[in-house]
Amino acid sequence: MKIASKNIEEICKSACEVVKVAGTFILEQAGKVTPDQIETKAHNSLVSYVDKASEKILVKGLSEILPTATYLTEEGTVAQEESALRWIIDPLDGTTNFLHQLPCYNISVALEYEGKLCIGIVLDVQTKEIFHAWTDGGAYLNGHPIHVRKNIKLADSMVSTGFPYFDFGMTDNYLKTLGILMQKARGIRRVGAAAIDLAYVAAGRYDTFFEYSLQPYDVAAGIVLVHEAGGLINDFQGNQDYLFGKQIVASSPAIHQEMLDILLEHF
Ligand code: IPD
Ligand code: CA
Ligand code: CA
Repeated sequence: MKIASKNIEEICKSACEVVKVAGTFILEQAGKVTPDQIETKAHNSLVSYVDKASEKILVKGLSEILPTATYLTEEGTVAQEESALRWIIDPLDGTTNFLHQLPCYNISVALEYEGKLCIGIVLDVQTKEIFHAWTDGGAYLNGHPIHVRKNIKLADSMVSTGFPYFDFGMTDNYLKTLGILMQKARGIRRVGAAAIDLAYVAAGRYDTFFEYSLQPYDVAAGIVLVHEAGGLINDFQGNQDYLFGKQIVASSPAIHQEMLDILLEHF
């Protein structure tokens, strides 16, 4: 597949190098952000100069790869425009972990071409694990192919989720779902970084991930990873509105329908 006369695999690999540069910057800042450098954007939504500077590094580097591409970014440090070619970027996913000096924060970069996601890159900044995928090219962790786990039952499955932290209107629905999964699955994890959650489904570390109130930049890269690793993705109604629809369930095909049935019953 060619994009703007460039090979998609080459675009993906060049973009990985840009992401690594931003990752090095974030890691250098770990533990250095002072309380007066932290802003509250909304309830429980924090940001510091690190998120914004990471975004600027990414935009500068990615603009050199595809000069005509536009951007959808969390921090809005660049014009937000729709076009046939658009990068969707979370420059620091897991900001709360980062600011509390907890592990598990990442950079999430996706490319959308003619309305379809075609590249996904997630870099775990601390461990330096880099996940990348492009349409019909497969999904990789540090260059090695990854796949969702197959031939499993919900009882053998590791479930991952994100807790509601500002939109509490569906808390009861969420807690009922969690109660069912506590009994039916092997375990439940909440690491606090949606892009890593999806990357781990792609790598077969988790078997399913569900969360609501997510934004496109939280999930775009992970969506490409999960699809290319053989996983299935829906919104909670079983439809395809999971990029902009603020509800996502992504799983191994072995348990996806069972997850959807549980979500359909409770949401
Ligand atoms: C957050 C993380 C978290 C999820 C939140 C996101 P941020 O992103 O992905 O896991 O539960 O919904 O907003 O704010 O750290 O980029
Ligand atoms: Ca995020
Ligand atoms: Ca973020």
